[in-house]
Amino acid sequence: MTWAFGKAILLGEHAVVYGYPALAGAIDCRLRAHFIAEPGDGALRLRVPAWNLDVKRADEHVVGTALDAIVRAVGAALNIREPHLSESLSGRIDIDTELPAAAGLGSSAALSVALSRVLSGALAPARLPLDNDQIAAIANCGERRFHDNPSGVDVALATRGGLGVFVRGQGLEPLSAPPLALAVGLSGQERRTADLVGRVAQARSQAPTRTDAQLAILGAAARSGRAALERGDLAELGRLMARAHATLAELGLSTSVLDRLVAEAERAGALGAKLTGAGGGGAVIALARDKDHAQAICDTWHRSGHPGFACSLGARP
Ligand code: PMV
Repeated sequence: MTWAFGKAILLGEHAVVYGYPALAGAIDCRLRAHFIAEPGDGALRLRVPAWNLDVKRADEHVVGTALDAIVRAVGAALNIREPHLSESLSGRIDIDTELPAAAGLGSSAALSVALSRVLSGALAPARLPLDNDQIAAIANCGERRFHDNPSGVDVALATRGGLGVFVRGQGLEPLSAPPLALAVGLSGQERRTADLVGRVAQARSQAPTRTDAQLAILGAAARSGRAALERGDLAELGRLMARAHATLAELGLSTSVLDRLVAEAERAGALGAKLTGAGGGGAVIALARDKDHAQAICDTWHRSGHPGFACSLGARP
């Protein structure tokens, strides 16, 4: 049995793709993977009942191709080649998770990390486990099947947990701030990260000056957010989140449902609220004073027909 975290980006999504920092943390909402060896046709099977998913390795389904990419990367890291690789992996992987799919909470990264861990354990049970850097490198091979151009922030947090500042190509710098109380509201609108990242790329080619200025504002907010977090100024962190939502909306990444969830959270006294992840649907996050306040914000969303959950940002293994 292995696990990985979901994540939420406090500040800096999309800008992080272009080299700006992102302030983000793991949420205490995990995904667990379990390998069960069983004789059969040798085709490794993956089941995620919570997402209605049942695929085989290399099936023509994004999850099947991601699984295949991860198997190959684990094989390369452990120096195990075909046909031994496939023979050793005759069986199935069951995934147990409360993490919603396609909601901006890093579900594909959590899946890729948990698969990388469970497969390396199944292939080399007697060896020392691969270290976090090796696991993250393997998981990114899967994550690239889900998102054409991932920054790596999701995989870094799914692997290590905690709270930190991520810069593409440099990795995650952990921060020692205490975990934050967060309410996560679900719009119910599924979307593909790659499409939204593509939308920003298109905006950059059509209106480079304006789009680059908006990305720079998001990156600067992540830097200021870090400083606010480090001095314990959650009111300022919340204000930065509210402004970041407005900038993300200007970039065309919000929806009317996301805007409504943000407004409802603000009326319920959130210190700040914004869409998180790629946008275009998915989730919003609201910074709360404490766990009870986070739950009260979720109750407000429930009353208007949208599910949500209270969680802690900065969950550590
Ligand atoms: O929506 P998610 O969980 O896939 O997060 C995407 C975050 C982006 O910054 C939009 C893309 C990336 O690769 O960092």
